[in-house]
Amino acid sequence: MSSQRERAMKPTDLRGILRYVPMFRDHVFVIAVDGSIVSHENFANIVTDIAVLRSLSIKVVLVHGIGQQLVGLAGEHNIVLSDVQGEGPINATTMSLAREASALVSQSVLENLSQAGLRCAITNAVRSTKIGRLKGVDHLYAGKVEKVDAAILKSMLSQDILPLVTPIVCDREGQSLRVNSDHLAMELASALGASKLIYLTPFSGLQVNGIVQLNLPEDDLKRLLADKSAKLDPRIRSKAVQAAKALDNDVPRAHILDGRVFGCLLTEIFDKVGLGTMVHANDYDRIRQAKKKDAQALYNLAKHGAKTDALVARTRQQIEQSFADFYVYEIDDSIIGCATLHPYPGGKSMELGAVYVQPFYHGRGVGSKLVEFAKRRAKQLGAKKLIALTTQTQGFFQSACNFVPGALTDLPAERRKALKESGRNSQVLSFSLSRLSDSLR
Ligand SMILES: CC(C)(COP(=O)(O)OP(=O)(O)OC[C@H]1O[C@@H](n2cnc3c(N)ncnc32)[C@H](O)[C@@H]1OP(=O)(O)O)[C@@H](O)C(=O)NCCC(=O)NCCS
Repeated sequence: MSSQRERAMKPTDLRGILRYVPMFRDHVFVIAVDGSIVSHENFANIVTDIAVLRSLSIKVVLVHGIGQQLVGLAGEHNIVLSDVQGEGPINATTMSLAREASALVSQSVLENLSQAGLRCAITNAVRSTKIGRLKGVDHLYAGKVEKVDAAILKSMLSQDILPLVTPIVCDREGQSLRVNSDHLAMELASALGASKLIYLTPFSGLQVNGIVQLNLPEDDLKRLLADKSAKLDPRIRSKAVQAAKALDNDVPRAHILDGRVFGCLLTEIFDKVGLGTMVHANDYDRIRQAKKKDAQALYNLAKHGAKTDALVARTRQQIEQSFADFYVYEIDDSIIGCATLHPYPGGKSMELGAVYVQPFYHGRGVGSKLVEFAKRRAKQLGAKKLIALTTQTQGFFQSACNFVPGALTDLPAERRKALKESGRNSQVLSFSLSRLSDSLR
């Protein structure tokens, strides 16, 4: 394994790593590890990945499952379990074995974290309550999260202590209940305002018809979960259901990854394509009108665009004066793309400008989503025609966004004059907004 690590890392890579340093600084990631992954040989590598995240000032909360260990103990003692995943009724014998399994898994996690030099603590920051009777069936010792003490967890994180949360959680009276670890992780991510909820599983992700879904918008996931004919492994379904709840609770991303793969965490987080399934907020939810506080980020984007002459150079002051024209595309609280929408006198035509996407995100549909959004917004605002002036991206506007060549006469006289004076000799393109359906978001 160490030779694998040596191959994966060269000293010169450190320069490349620098750009990741500010990316998620001080963000909280909740990582839920299935019991089978804790006992997998790759777990030591996962802990090394967590140490890398910590070194980038990412705050990690760890939750572990116990399914595999519970089944193992039941086999050894010849006991029939009333439930494995903590979703069905938990009788006294199953509860007793679950406590044993949890102690074994926690110890194993602690050993690995200690070997990686990570400070950690098992905590009772979560309080449970009995699930009670569902459809007349008493779920006995099965619990669900009643309350998360976010203050304690944040205080631990601020002192560089990694909280480890087990799926045996005490209720108000101090009685232990078995809580499903997928649900536990979702509640933690929601309460802590985490940027990511990550499930490390023995599956290559969420599969639909045998194909792993790499990027899944929230609505598609919900449609999939409601589709009775979709065949999902119950263990994956449980994570998918919790991922959808996490997004409802404003966690921007949930990931379902194969924890058996070397480097799974870092690849998923920092690689452009990723490795497993990432569930994210619906695309249009990521585009919003710019606010004054975005001026610096917009200035930086415009500056990069102007370097290649793709965009008109704009000063910070110009951006501050026209920030209301800007729309931004946000990922994880960072602005990675923008576009402007400006009405021509009379409001029947609008100009789409400054369409720019950070090079790292090119080719992922961000540019076309910005243009699509601008078309719908322009139509909403009563415009009939959208005009784009381009010097280098005629192909993008025509092939990907269905614009057609326009004429200088499409522009109002003042705009024509300004264009002439700029010497940019831009191509005029236009899109008739009557071609859009009326289904506005
Ligand atoms: C042009 C730009 C906004 C496209 O953004 P993007 O997020 O990479 O675009 P998408 O991923 O949505 O691409 C959609 C399609 O357009 C194609 N495309 C992208 N840039 C293109 C270009 N310059 N010429 C022709 N086609 C292009 C892509 O290949 C893709 O095709 P596909 O759907 O067949 O795969 C981006 O490259 C950029 O910021 N460029 C620099 C700034 C610029 O020139 N802006 C225009 C000023 S008005």
